[in-house]
Amino acid sequence: MSIFVTGGAGYIGSHTVLELLRERYNVVVIDNFVNSSRACVERVKNLAGRDFTFYEGDVRDKALLAKIFTTHNIDCVIHFAGLKAVGESISIPLSYYDNNLNSTLALCQAMNKYGVKRIIFSSSATVYSGDNEMPLRETSKTGDCSCPYGWTKYMCEQILRDASFANKDWSVVLLRYFNPLGADKSGDIGEDPSGIPNNLVPYIAQAAIGRREFLPLYGGDYPTPDGTCIRDYIHVADLASGHMAAIRYCESHTGAKEFNLGTGKGTSVLEMISSFENATGVKINYKIMDRRPGDLPVSYADPSLAKKELGWSAQKSIINMCADTWRWQKQNPHGFN
Ligand code: NAD
Ligand code: WQD
Repeated sequence: MSIFVTGGAGYIGSHTVLELLRERYNVVVIDNFVNSSRACVERVKNLAGRDFTFYEGDVRDKALLAKIFTTHNIDCVIHFAGLKAVGESISIPLSYYDNNLNSTLALCQAMNKYGVKRIIFSSSATVYSGDNEMPLRETSKTGDCSCPYGWTKYMCEQILRDASFANKDWSVVLLRYFNPLGADKSGDIGEDPSGIPNNLVPYIAQAAIGRREFLPLYGGDYPTPDGTCIRDYIHVADLASGHMAAIRYCESHTGAKEFNLGTGKGTSVLEMISSFENATGVKINYKIMDRRPGDLPVSYADPSLAKKELGWSAQKSIINMCADTWRWQKQNPHGFN
């Protein structure tokens, strides 16, 4: 069975490609390296001990998609490719709408033309509105997104729902990831943000290795037990296995379906800092700063639908996530390059 993975050189994509290769799928990847590196592709091949076909290019390139869909007998698409930085999406919204929407449209058009009927899409907890009760369920209110990035995910979900409504034999799985972290246990691949990290744990890891003087902790006066924000952190390897479950689900279901991929457990920023310290033995310097605009005090998933329908649940603990992040960071203090 052949799986076409867009954005397969990126953080979640590379871990998923590795898992696909380990599960003996044929894998075809496209990535334009806008936020990733060639070295990652080579490392995935070495870790898996297997080769796969890689195309360097843009998912919006319709001629390239036509070439890929006519050269390979694709059974299922996993669409990771996209821009994902919340703050950047506020500064350059048109680039975000162009990249994230037009790549999804080009893919759907190619699927239509070449008779591919299954797609798994990387959506995000960011599609949920800020005024929901916790935990977030798939039926919780969506929209009122806090940034253009969030709207692109909301709109792509709708494009895919509409496409599956018009093509009754399509199977669309919309996976809403919560907060991914961690790395493959080899320490050979992991998250390699360019510039100053936007997300908490990559920042903690760079502070631990000495690339950052201290962690800016955004807000210590939230209405939570320790005053810091609570999130649902999930190991990237658990996310990868969620995609294996979604591929199996597509084989026996049509229509479009949303699933939360989270653990269902909330962890505060201060709890994350102390877990990282416990897992690694390294002290993290932090300074409490003003709140970061747009942050919700609390966000975590109800992952029970994925357990019931996909037969999937997250297995790895926060300590696993921290230890694996640290192994990657220590072995690759400057990332892939
Ligand atoms: P990432 O930036 O590491 O990976 C995305 C990959 O897509 C990169 O390798 C990039 O070079 C590639 N890419 C982007 N636009 C492209 C295009 N037009 N053509 C070809 N390649 C392109 O990000 P990630 O963390 O691995 O996220 C993967 C997906 O999951 C994204 O769609 C992201 O929005 C979504 N997501 C991520 C998170 C998170 O916190 N990491 C949470 C929820 C959802
Ligand atoms: C977590 C907590 C910060 C950095 C984002 C996107 C979301 C999804 C996952 C893609 C918050 C605090 C952070 C730092 C800090 N991505 N923090 N100092 O905001 O929950 O979600 O990534 O879909 O769409 O919005 O994750 O890791 O940025 O922040 O104190 O240097 O850590 O304020 O409370 P977030 P995060």
